[in-house]
Amino acid sequence: MSNTIIFKPCPVGLSGELQPPGDKSISHRAAIFSLLAEGESTIHGFLRAEDTMATLSACIDLGAVVTDQAGTLKITGVGLKGLSAPTDGRLDMGNSGTAMRLLAGVLAAQPFDCELYGDKSLSGRPMARIIRPLALMGTEIAAADGCPPIFIAASSGLKPLRYQSPVASAQVKSCLLLAGLCSGVEVSVSEPALSRDHSERMLRAQGAAIEVNGDCVKLSTTTSLAPLNMAIPADISSAAFAIVAGLILPGSEITVQNISINPTRARLLDVLSEMGGNIEIFNTREQGGESVADLRVRSSSLKGIDVPPEWVPGMIDEFPILMIAASLADGVTRVRGAAELRVKESDRISVMADGLGKMGVVVDECADGFDLHGNLDFRFAAADVDACGDHRCAMSYLIAGLVSKAPVRVRGTAAIATSYPNFIADMQNLGAKVQ
Ligand code: S3P
Repeated sequence: MSNTIIFKPCPVGLSGELQPPGDKSISHRAAIFSLLAEGESTIHGFLRAEDTMATLSACIDLGAVVTDQAGTLKITGVGLKGLSAPTDGRLDMGNSGTAMRLLAGVLAAQPFDCELYGDKSLSGRPMARIIRPLALMGTEIAAADGCPPIFIAASSGLKPLRYQSPVASAQVKSCLLLAGLCSGVEVSVSEPALSRDHSERMLRAQGAAIEVNGDCVKLSTTTSLAPLNMAIPADISSAAFAIVAGLILPGSEITVQNISINPTRARLLDVLSEMGGNIEIFNTREQGGESVADLRVRSSSLKGIDVPPEWVPGMIDEFPILMIAASLADGVTRVRGAAELRVKESDRISVMADGLGKMGVVVDECADGFDLHGNLDFRFAAADVDACGDHRCAMSYLIAGLVSKAPVRVRGTAAIATSYPNFIADMQNLGAKVQ
């Protein structure tokens, strides 16, 4: 994918059907949990993007045998105690915080040393949030200044853990559950607000002893995991770009298929509906232990709202594209309680405020959020914006380009391949044009 892309301003709305790619969070977990299962897992709809392929390669290096049968992955696992040391003693996690934090939990319980490293963005992301609790379990783990690479020493057993996480983070929660699973000890994790619960759902389906009580998840001793057999639903975080484009481009009507509407993930739909977005959710059903549905999205007049802070974890990856929607909404959209946005693939508050400023939008930043001043009749000004290597900022800016007075040139779009390699083609199918 070229690193600089311009979407032409789109005079007519978007139309048609979209089948977004498989859910990234669930795909990472499908690879790791299949590695740890006894026997052969069958995974339909695995996301083939850089982040999830990094996880899959790591799982192969740790002993999984993977075959691709006409797009369906068959993954033969090695069981909770059967992992082998990676060939070079180190694993490349690319851009993926999820890959690194979840696999750190697995590796904390192994009888071999391992180093986890990643690209420039990942090398600047905080790992103390997993290092501290893993060290409490007895893991010998080190990272200079709390950032990758992470060195994890061979373990001869871990201690049980009862942990109150200071952040609502599915990555922290899943890391600790995996450390408990692989070392055969009990772990309970409480968090300030419930983060996405895919690990709990999938591990329970595999026979793990997992109980959830409010914001606390407890894993009791579990000696084996059954293989998975699942169809991964489409990723609401990837679908979000087309959903917002459909709302803000006059004359649009699009259908988005097979979206996970797991309540710990789908808060964006609540926020957009409160803003006045016309989003019809239909054909709701169960798939792979998750609620999925189809969505019909029609262009709408939006208004700014105060996003309730308790909704933030349920849409943590959707703020860059929410900021595009809010730019075209009447009045102020106010977000607080979202400090986590500053430690994602980029500092998403400052990267988006910067680019939006160049495109004529006033964003008042604060430590844990922003006030964004929107306007119904607004059209983004021509600009040259840099996504700073962040896939979600890149896709958000491209959507802004569809509703601009003159071309918006977006730099750093190669990063889109980490989560949504087909994004440009999918948007073109709905009517977007690349200049
Ligand atoms: C993810 C959890 C979220 C999210 C990330 C994927 C996961 O991070 O931002 O893109 O798959 O567990 P946190 O759990 O750290 O908030």
